[in-house]
Amino acid sequence: MRMIDIIEKKRDGYELTKEEINFAIEGYTKGDVPDYQMSAFAMAIFFQDMTTEERVHLTKAMVESGDQVDLSDIAGIKVDKHSTGGVGDTTTLILAPLVASVGVPVAKMSGRGLGHTGGTVDKLESIKGFHVELDGETFNELVNKNKIAVVGQSGNLTPADKKLYGLRDVTATVDSIPLIASSIMSKKIASGADAIVLDVKTGSGAFMKDLEGAKELAHAMVQIGNGAGRETIAVISDMNQPLGFAVGNALEVKEAIDTLRGEGPADLEELCLTLGSQMVYLGKQAESIEEAREKLIEAIKSGKAIEKFKTFLSAQGGDASVVDEPSKLPTASYTFEVVAKEDGMVSEIVADEIGIAASLLGAGRLTKDSEIDLAVGLVLNKKIGDQVRKGDSLVTIHSNREDVKDVVEKIYQSYSISAKKVEPHALVYDVIY
Ligand code: URA
Ligand code: CA
Repeated sequence: MRMIDIIEKKRDGYELTKEEINFAIEGYTKGDVPDYQMSAFAMAIFFQDMTTEERVHLTKAMVESGDQVDLSDIAGIKVDKHSTGGVGDTTTLILAPLVASVGVPVAKMSGRGLGHTGGTVDKLESIKGFHVELDGETFNELVNKNKIAVVGQSGNLTPADKKLYGLRDVTATVDSIPLIASSIMSKKIASGADAIVLDVKTGSGAFMKDLEGAKELAHAMVQIGNGAGRETIAVISDMNQPLGFAVGNALEVKEAIDTLRGEGPADLEELCLTLGSQMVYLGKQAESIEEAREKLIEAIKSGKAIEKFKTFLSAQGGDASVVDEPSKLPTASYTFEVVAKEDGMVSEIVADEIGIAASLLGAGRLTKDSEIDLAVGLVLNKKIGDQVRKGDSLVTIHSNREDVKDVVEKIYQSYSISAKKVEPHALVYDVIY
């Protein structure tokens, strides 16, 4: 087989075989296929698209390019969740203990990564003593015993995706549905989940700005997951404004604690119940989505969900007393209020600008090695559709520096206040099976 023939075949719009796709991905991972041929191949896919079968083969080839996590020593159906980006998305912190509390095993591998705030691991590390360095055996034992554990990323998962994503980034081939879908799904499948719930965001703060694009991506990922033998469901949710109120690491932990007690922001709680019901249903702990939802509501009301969070923290060395005394979380030295300059209704909150404002404070990593400040971030006091009066606080800044002019400016760029009545956006647009 020759790479040039495979590129030409795709360029001319023909369907590739499993062997051809494997040849390209294996060759690229090993270094036998050079970057320039892979760039041409990615561009051919960009223009000619791929059939569902091709997408499944591409995903599997990337899964097989590296290590795969084996969760077979853990009892039950392991259900994983993935969100496509978003700002201030606290759902993982809430969903993990919430669904575990009704019997779904959560065996989560989580990274630090780059972003407006830290990853799930960073957020959890704002709890004193908590650590994610677990060996495989301890990890399995904890999930079997408590139904929940989070371990830091290790091993060499999907090296083909890592290499290809880097190449796509500099060859204008990122925005391709088959390439995005196979990239995301290869990582989920290699992480060992039996079933996958996807939260595909749409709106100004999302990777997919419009609903049509989000639906197309969701369908593509659901087809790949099912085609690879992992039951997959996608929820399409709104990212026209940040989810919940808090954006920042310790601030989001506090928000997760509130939500697990039933005292969190309504949009965050609703999305967690929607995603969580799908997870519980796929995990066969309920016979219908409605029954799953009832179980989750009951777990919050009865205190089972927050108890599970405490068990989880203690099992990994964390000081679980922060749950009852959140003042023990890292706290910033200063708070500042960003106030409305006029009366009206909040009509827009550009999530990206809020994310940038939080990272300017130090909540997120700018490079792989930069330090993050767990205490800093933002709390949104007004969301889209809220009435404001001049002088009302829109956002509270939690900062460790005294001069926050740049942050205030970003927040004003993000918020629009309208004299007209504004209808809030729907939170969940669709569920794709
Ligand atoms: N996120 C990914 O992991 N891969 C893509 O291709 C795009 C977004
Ligand atoms: Ca939030």
